[in-house]
Amino acid sequence: MPGLERTLIIVKPDALQRNLLGRIITRFEEKGLKIAGIKMMQLSDEILDEHYSHHKDKPFFDDLKGFMKSSPVVLMVLEGVDVIETVRLIVGPTNAREAQAGSIRGDFSMSKSNNIVHASDSLDTAQVEIKRFFTEEELFDYRKDDWNWVYSEDELSA
Ligand code: CMP
Repeated sequence: MPGLERTLIIVKPDALQRNLLGRIITRFEEKGLKIAGIKMMQLSDEILDEHYSHHKDKPFFDDLKGFMKSSPVVLMVLEGVDVIETVRLIVGPTNAREAQAGSIRGDFSMSKSNNIVHASDSLDTAQVEIKRFFTEEELFDYRKDDWNWVYSEDELSA
């Protein structure tokens, strides 16, 4: 399928503590996205230093790490056509106070840091992030029957 991509989602500690995990998964499922992998994990300093290395000089870096370690997180790999851009729209911008109503951050968060989910920001980043958190064996290539309805025949067969 043209444009078929995978993206990494981290459902952050604030979402788990606030009982939002099910609703977040439901939003992605209802959109028509396929879950290629899903697991719960307690993040370590080591993996957070790598994942947020581009923020290591920011004043919020230590707080960000503390927050991301404060409880386990749920990681998902989502698959779909142009899924990286679509998921970024579903999630909304980093500062949740500026996120549109209807987006996950727009509906569930008031914070720049406690912003419910992380989503990969580009194809290159997604590939690196998925490898960081998932082994090949944890990712599943299966037929999603409802894709016959989610996509047109042209989109499916091209
Ligand atoms: P995320 O999409 O995981 O990418 C980097 C994270 O750093 C971001 O979500 C927020 O959780 C956090 N972050 C970004 N900017 C700020 C900020 N100005 N203050 C506090 N935390 C921030």
